[in-house]
Amino acid sequence: MSDRRAIIIDTDPGQDDALAILLALASEEFEVIGITTVAGNVPLPLTEKNARKICELAGKPETRVFAGASRPLVRDLVTAEYVHGKSGLDGPDLPEPAMPLQAQHGVDFIVETLRERASGEVALCTLGPLTNIALALVKAPDIAPKIREIVMMGGGFFEGGNTTPAAEFNIYVDPHAAATVFKSGVPITMIPLDCTHKALTTHERIDAMRAQGTKVTTAAAELIDFFERFDEDKYGTDGGPLHDPCVIAWLLKPDLFSGRDCNVEIETGSELTMGMTVVDWWGVTGRAKNAHVLRDVDANGFFGLLTERIARL
Ligand code: RIB
Ligand code: CA
Repeated sequence: MSDRRAIIIDTDPGQDDALAILLALASEEFEVIGITTVAGNVPLPLTEKNARKICELAGKPETRVFAGASRPLVRDLVTAEYVHGKSGLDGPDLPEPAMPLQAQHGVDFIVETLRERASGEVALCTLGPLTNIALALVKAPDIAPKIREIVMMGGGFFEGGNTTPAAEFNIYVDPHAAATVFKSGVPITMIPLDCTHKALTTHERIDAMRAQGTKVTTAAAELIDFFERFDEDKYGTDGGPLHDPCVIAWLLKPDLFSGRDCNVEIETGSELTMGMTVVDWWGVTGRAKNAHVLRDVDANGFFGLLTERIARL
């Protein structure tokens, strides 16, 4: 078995998802077994196409991309074109993909891969709603103990939500899937808004990325230029939070981050707080600590890693 980290990326591209995928494909530490796509930022036909566009931008057309769930488990799909644009990948003009979409359903690919690979070998990196992961766990409960870990961008606590006052988008879109995942017993590292809101795409950081002058860094800067404007207006900051690449950066350089083990429960009853991640940061409930929750990141170190790596493509 190679000493590369075997990962499956589950994603709803999305400009920040794109940066995460580029970081993973640029890093030889990983074996990206496959990319499964889910409805989220935009509907599934666009997220799966966008994932293929990003793999071709990275010069990795051999990457296997799968389409997964087209809607949440229970609730109607909520999308975020207001952030990501109609295509979900507004910014640079990326060509229609020539590489194929795999015929197998993304959920079946996740199940099959986890059954085939050694126990504890494969990590799931989730960048969108958790629908595919929950479906895989329900369809094949036997895979739960075989998953090395789930590293997810999702949730928020001290920062509140970004879709409602209580809920972050990935969890809000499919709270029932999130509840299933957090009850699964699979080791989870949760990267919430409390952490990603400290990774801002400041002009200095993105100018440094653009200055690399490669096709990928130029396109990456254009993706960010489009993506950040909504949050800059909303938060009045220099730059917006770059959420999803934190998932890949955590696997590459965990020392850039800090957090603690906590109990996390998901609200699925109240419409007012639907999708809220209730993080017991102070350990007052005595409930089992089912997630390692990150709250801080060395933002300069994070952007330095991201820029250096994607400039290699
Ligand atoms: O709330 C931010 C998350 O929702 C990111 O993953 C973004 O891409 C969207 O999926
Ligand atoms: Ca995403």
